Amino acid sequence: MVHFSRRLLQMAESETLAMARLSRELKAQGKDIINLSLGEPDFDTPDYIKQAAKDAIDQNYSHYTPVAGYDELLDAICLKLKRDNGLDFKRSQIMVSTGAKQCIANLVMACIDEGDEVIVPAPYWVSYREIIKMAGGKPVEVLAGIDQDFKVSPEQVEKAITSKTKMFMFSSPCNPTGSVYSYEELESIVNVLAKYPDITVVSDEIYELINFVGKHVSIGSFDQISDRTVTINGLSKAFAMTGWRLGYLAAPEPIAKACIKMQGQFTSATCSIAQRAAITALTNGPEKVSNMIAAFKKRNELTHQLLLEIPNIIVNNPQGAFYFFPDISYYIGKSFGNTKIQNSDDLSMYLIHEANVSTVPGSAFGAENYIRLSYATSEDAIVKAVERIKVALLNLK
Ligand SMILES: Cc1ncc(COP(=O)(O)O)c(C=O)c1O
Repeated sequence: MVHFSRRLLQMAESETLAMARLSRELKAQGKDIINLSLGEPDFDTPDYIKQAAKDAIDQNYSHYTPVAGYDELLDAICLKLKRDNGLDFKRSQIMVSTGAKQCIANLVMACIDEGDEVIVPAPYWVSYREIIKMAGGKPVEVLAGIDQDFKVSPEQVEKAITSKTKMFMFSSPCNPTGSVYSYEELESIVNVLAKYPDITVVSDEIYELINFVGKHVSIGSFDQISDRTVTINGLSKAFAMTGWRLGYLAAPEPIAKACIKMQGQFTSATCSIAQRAAITALTNGPEKVSNMIAAFKKRNELTHQLLLEIPNIIVNNPQGAFYFFPDISYYIGKSFGNTKIQNSDDLSMYLIHEANVSTVPGSAFGAENYIRLSYATSEDAIVKAVERIKVALLNLK
């Protein structure tokens, strides 16, 4: 019999990827599934970035690259962090990886030991919990519900800190809620973290550009904690480049070095062609993709209007990313025929099978009683999908 490691057996499958797979399977069987479980833009990569990749192929960028990434890319990242975020970094503090996901994995594997605690505001992105567990660490979940606009308070953070706390890890704009921490909200959390110098702050800013409230604030820009903040970002969401697999991390030099050492044994580096394309994407700046951001804003407003028409769900007004995370607790405990909806997983399954709409249950993100809806799809699909969800929910007795 094949032996599987404890590490693997304790790991949950990514529920977002599982839902995407189920949607594909049902679609292949001929079902008219509308996919609201997607965690990626439905746009194609802009032409100017594709051209850079084509040029890179012709120029024979086909060899192993430095583990941390090409020097020109490290420089482009430093430039971007200064230009867009007011952050000062030098080459030796940057690592480029196979997506922001690998940055997080390298970081956690490099810095977290058995029993170390990582504070993770919930709802959180699915992979944080599993990556922390894989390293032997303990995710300490701090829940902020829709009544708090899904943002933790400084008091909640302070209460969760113990002598074992090594990291505080969060995303803003947030997946799965779309919530964006304001300058003042971040400042109040920084004031707490400033008192605990051994805690590394990990700021996942992958949705930075998909922000409808104005300028993004990086927590690393606060002086009190700038020397122990790790900023993570990537090209997947803002530049519609999920398949290219390019993310990056900016950290205090010893942490960056540790992550690079880890990466050297796992993947050596990320794809040379994607790296060349990333130089073009980052040096050109965010204005070039403003059309995509405008489309997301329009869809956000549309989805919000439509969701408000569904009786007995609670919806907030997310200010970034491309998700809604409505409270569906009213429908938990209701039944469809002989089948009782016991939790958000059941509701998500009910919606995919009875309404032909795929969503992701809140449980995947550490928050029961919610489901995640992605509006990274066409306006027509959004209108149809929300109507189907409404009819299906009203059919529950
Ligand atoms: C909050 C968050 N962080 C990181 C990632 C990973 O991004 P990448 O495609 O760069 O690995 C995602 C992707 O869904 C995400 O939502």
